[in-house]
Amino acid sequence: MIVPTRDLFSHAYGKYALGAYNINNLEQAMGLFQGNLQSKAPFIIQISKGARAYTNKLMLEAIIRTADQIWPEALFAVHLDHGDEEACMDCINSGFYSSVMIDGSHLPFEENIAVTKRVVEAAHAKGLSVEAELGQLGGVEEHVSVDEKDAHLTDPAEAEEFIKRTGCDSLACAIGTSHGAFKFTGTQGIRFEVIQEIQRRVPGFPLVMHGSSSVPQDEVARINAAGGALKGAKGVDPAQYLPAAKMGVCKINIDTDGRLVWCRVHREFFRDKPEKFDLRDPGKIFMPEYAKFIASRNELLGSAGQLDAARAHVEALSKGA
Ligand code: G3H
Ligand code: 13P
Ligand code: ZN
Repeated sequence: MIVPTRDLFSHAYGKYALGAYNINNLEQAMGLFQGNLQSKAPFIIQISKGARAYTNKLMLEAIIRTADQIWPEALFAVHLDHGDEEACMDCINSGFYSSVMIDGSHLPFEENIAVTKRVVEAAHAKGLSVEAELGQLGGVEEHVSVDEKDAHLTDPAEAEEFIKRTGCDSLACAIGTSHGAFKFTGTQGIRFEVIQEIQRRVPGFPLVMHGSSSVPQDEVARINAAGGALKGAKGVDPAQYLPAAKMGVCKINIDTDGRLVWCRVHREFFRDKPEKFDLRDPGKIFMPEYAKFIASRNELLGSAGQLDAARAHVEALSKGA
């Protein structure tokens, strides 16, 4: 069942984080639903601008609608990941999405506020919630000096002002992570003190952590042993997911790790079976492997086992309780 993102957040807040997983195709969708149901977890499906453009934006929506029919017991929200204003408006008007992300993090503060406000107004008019972003991920490179690096993290005072002035429903914060498979070339670790200070200023406000893949070293080693070239790939320590969740991080975005599972399965398959060419053969291995990976993440996020309680919470809210 597709449900409002804000209802999932109000159940998770301070207890666990929802896994927000990106999908691009059928096999990912199959593994995603199966992994979440195996671990009895509510979850968020994310569709990026790139994913919408990969085939046709309607294709992923159709896959999700069908998965919802196959597994009516699944409890999830559908979210636009890293949207610009145009993509946000398109998703808001489509009637399919639970929430959108307006990513104005590259803009000057006032411009970020202005575009976020426009999206919030349009989204709230249709009952959707809005994730905004302040601060910039990816500023934790070795060549960046400490002062410059800190300048990319979300400023808690700015976050407070931004949230109040935009009316956004959740905020993606730069707290030391970065997108992709090569994180933390400099100092490693989530900046918990930034989360803590934002929460002190806006208690109860849901935060989002992007760039949260853990880049498992066994996956990297297997990919490299099967012909890959991912030297030095590194991710977030997944033992930090739950402590972050307990501080108010309600949504933890994981995409790269799923791509690594896909890459490992396909590289090993074609290395070991060079005579094969049927796409379904590696696909049959990938789907359960991805499901297993999703279930393992949900255990670390604390969302595993929360499905029934989250459903009861969402149902009570929909009845006006
Ligand atoms: O943060 C970005 C997500 O990993 C989506 O990646 O834009 O390549 O689909 P993408
Ligand atoms: P990763 O690249 O760490 O998986 O981050 C994904 C993300 O933030 C999607 O918005
Ligand atoms: Zn992201």
